[in-house]
Order: sequence, then structure tokens, then C-alpha cells
Amino acid sequence: MHNQVVTIQLFDKEPYAFSGDLLVCPVEEDVPQVGSDAGATLNKMLQQVRETGDFKGGKDQVFLLYPGLTGLEKGSAIQAKRVLFVGLGKQDDLINVRREQLRLVGGTIAKQAGAVKAREVLVVLPKDFLLDAVEIAQCLTEGLLLGNYRFDLYKNPKEEKDTLTRVEQFYLHAGGLAASAVRKGLEHGRILAEAVCTARDMANQPGNGWTPADFAEYAKKISKKTSLKCKVLDKAAMQKLGMGGILGVNQGSALPPHLVILEHRPNKKNPTILLVGKGLTFDSGGICTKPPAGMEDMKYDMCGGAAVITAIQAVAEAGIEGVNVVALIPATENLSGSAALKPGDIIRHYGGKTSEIINTDAEGRLILADALAYGIEVYKPEAVIDLATLTGAVIIGLGHHYTGLLSNNDQLALQLTEAGAQVGEPLWRLPLGPEYRKQIDSRVADIKNAGSDRSGGTITAACYLQEFVGETPWAHLDIAGTAWDFTEKTYIPKGPSGTGVRTLVACLRQWKSLKTAEKK
Ligand code: BES
Ligand code: ZN
Ligand code: ZN
Repeated sequence: MHNQVVTIQLFDKEPYAFSGDLLVCPVEEDVPQVGSDAGATLNKMLQQVRETGDFKGGKDQVFLLYPGLTGLEKGSAIQAKRVLFVGLGKQDDLINVRREQLRLVGGTIAKQAGAVKAREVLVVLPKDFLLDAVEIAQCLTEGLLLGNYRFDLYKNPKEEKDTLTRVEQFYLHAGGLAASAVRKGLEHGRILAEAVCTARDMANQPGNGWTPADFAEYAKKISKKTSLKCKVLDKAAMQKLGMGGILGVNQGSALPPHLVILEHRPNKKNPTILLVGKGLTFDSGGICTKPPAGMEDMKYDMCGGAAVITAIQAVAEAGIEGVNVVALIPATENLSGSAALKPGDIIRHYGGKTSEIINTDAEGRLILADALAYGIEVYKPEAVIDLATLTGAVIIGLGHHYTGLLSNNDQLALQLTEAGAQVGEPLWRLPLGPEYRKQIDSRVADIKNAGSDRSGGTITAACYLQEFVGETPWAHLDIAGTAWDFTEKTYIPKGPSGTGVRTLVACLRQWKSLKTAEKK
């Protein structure tokens, strides 16, 4: 669906031979050289630029030159129309900070390229950046492609030139790093960035542009292009299985629900990790309707589903072999048609547990509960991770800067927190416990779907989910604050961030079995 045609590849001639729109050299703060084997001419240029005192290589600093207008010696003439020096900032001791510096520089380059309407851009990789070549290429590629993201599916271009605001072709020059390593990092970065941009596209789509059926169709499409296996449970199948949560939420909608299943199984002996993502393609609140101001934002209530479906796609494309992964996306709208769920109604979830509906706007937990119970029974996973734009309360607590993490397993929480820190998507753990769980005791059913007050809203929502995971190690990521308007960065604009995709892939790629970890 991702509607951009952007490519990235290795450039194997000398940088000065590049005759495109923009030649870019990332530069470390106060380091005299370009930091790569970019050639004498570029180093000389940089030296002259530094002498002006206008550019030190500080974070986000840029300096643009037009080599055609400068009197450089013949023979070493740079063919590119423009040269951009861009600051990496001071080299940091922390490896995660350096990874982020490269992504940020990638985002800055994409922005600058957009400002001069460059279509072909070559970036020379910094050589001595204290990360291995694979990671340098990967992080920079992520930043470039994520920063280059635009969504203009519904905009009629006013003039031809309006359509040219993004780069069409990026090249990386290895700059003295091993070409094979750079190629590997570039490829992995590309797979990740494309997955994130696809998740952003899904989120940007309005409720009438991305429906439950679109999730099902997309899953079928990628299963044809990759090794993923796809199954979709339709309404009749869910009725047979007794999935009263998804069916209940769906009652007010004219569109049928879908439970989308994708499986990545490279090796029978692998542990299985189950991913579950909330695919609520529009949340009006149902009978307990949300206020109209800002209701349009509730098209992004499917970001958990988008993250999970694009993450498993990236896992398959990257050929991650050490884990089996199953993704479940319960998809429906939450509307208030005449058959809609009402406060006081009691539903029966998959597996038999009953729930009293206190608030029809607390629908995410209802659809996730069926998917969690079903996925755990069928796939017997070693761990379950669910992602959901579940509560407004997480925005009150953590703002738009940390994803809320709730888990019944310290090792799993740690692996996710580390993965999040590596990719620049920080997680913050919140507690669970009987004192919160008590808030969803019901007088008439096994549980109720909302507490009687709003206190600890993110935690009581997670307590609801916990009822359906039993002893299985489980982590819940509440991305309501980070899926949209996440901490603004050069490579993350306002709007949908695609958060969770890179965290999940990093976590799965370096998965340490929870069972062996326990034995230690
Ligand atoms: N989709 C919302 C949560 C949400 C709020 C996501 C703001 C993104 C931004 C969820 O379905 C919801 O409405 N939750 C209620 C739960 C309450 C009724 C117990 C909430 O957070 O207010
Ligand atoms: Zn809701
Ligand atoms: Zn919702």
C-alpha cells in the first residue's frame, strides 16, 4: 500500500563522480576530517567551511555549498549540483546515543533534500563512528527513509512541481567501510523503514480508507510475496469459536469484523512469540460516544494492528530465523449502530469468561481479550506481546514520549525495554497488582470492562488483559501516546510515528529464550 517509490542502494564510484542533486557528508563536531575516505577535495572544502566559523559539525547543523559556483581546481571537480555538510554532534560514549545520532542525521538530510527539491542524493558514510559498519549503514538508512516519508494520497497536486518534494533515489557511499557490511545494514534499514512507513500509511488513512477488510487483504497480499502464512477468521468463524468480545464491539458497525493471523515459522524447534495488535479502524466510543472535538483522531486506533502486521512482514523479509512469530490482529470499528453494545450488557469471551460492559468506549480490551485467549490456546507461545492504543490515561501519565509497558515477566519486560532503547522508542514500565485488579470486579459477571473511576486507567486496562493470558509471559505496550505525535524528531514528523515496529523487530531478532534466562 505504501505509495512512495523511493530506492536506496550502494554507490561504488568515487563521491566526486556523483552527478546528482545533492552530495552529503556527515561530520562529527570538532573533528577536522570528513571522517570518511571521501577524497581530498571534500576535506579541503570542509576545512574552508570550518575556517568561516559558521559550521562546527554540531547536532542538526547544516552547511550547503554549490561547487559549480566555487573556484575549485580542475580535475577534482565535484559533479554533484550541491554539497551538504551535516553535523553529527559530539561522539557519545553510549552506543544507543550514537545509533540515534545517525538516524537524526538521516532525518536532517531528508529534510534538507526536500527543501532544495533534490531527487537524487548520495550520502558518504562516516568511517570512524565507533559503531560497526552494518549498524552505521542501517541507522542512517532508517533516518533517511523515515525522514523522507510523506502522505499525500488524497491531495490533488496543484502544480507539477508540488509532487517533487521527496527524494526518489538515495545512494550510500561506503566511505572506507566494508561494502558487504554496508550493503547488509542498508538492506536491513530499508526493510525496517519501509515497514514503519507502511504502518504510518495505514494510520494516516481515514476510517473509510482503511477498514477491517483492508487489514485482511493486506495480510493476504504479503503472504503471497513472503514466506508468511495467512489465515483470516470471518464473522461466522468467530461466532463458532465464541469470540464475544470482537463480535460485541462489532455489533454497532455495518462492516464485518476480521481476525487476521500471520505466521512466520522458519524452524519447528524455535520458540513461538505471539504478537497481538489492536486493529480498531475507527473508535467513536460506541453508545458511550466520545466528544466530537478531536474524534477524527480515532482513525489511529488501529496502530497496534499496523505495528504488528508490518513488524511480522519485516521479520519475514529480513529472514529472522531464531524465533517463530505469530501475529494476530482483531479488526473492527467501534460505532453506535442500532445493534450496538450497551452499558450493562454482558458478553462472553473466547474461553468462557464473562464481562459486564460499563463503558462501550473501553472496547480495545474486549477485542484483545479474545485474540489473546485464542492465540495462547492455539499457538502455546513462549511469550505474548500486545500493542494497543488502549488508554487516554497513558497520555496523561507519560505524555507522547514513552510507551507504557506492563508485564507479568521481568525478563520479557527487560528484553523489550532494551530493544526500545536501541531503536529510539523508549518504554516505561507501570505496575500491575491485585489492588488495581479489584477495580474491575463485577457484581454480575466475572469482570467488568472499566473501573468505577478513572484512577490508574492504563493499569486497570492491562489488568483486564492479564485475565486472559494465564501464566504465559506477557507484555502489553500501551502506545496511545506514542503512535501519534510521538516526540518530534528529524525523522519523525507530527502525525503517525509507526512506533513499535522497530522495537518488535529488534526484540525478536535478538530474542533470548525466557526459559534459559530463568535457569541462570
Ligand atoms: N482508543 C481509546 C484510547 C485512546 C485515547 C487512544 C486517546 C488514543 C488517544 C480507547 O478505546 C478508549 O476510549 N479508552 C477509554 C477507556 C475508558 C472508557 C475506561 C479512555 O482511555 O478514556
Ligand atoms: Zn474507546
Ligand atoms: Zn479504542
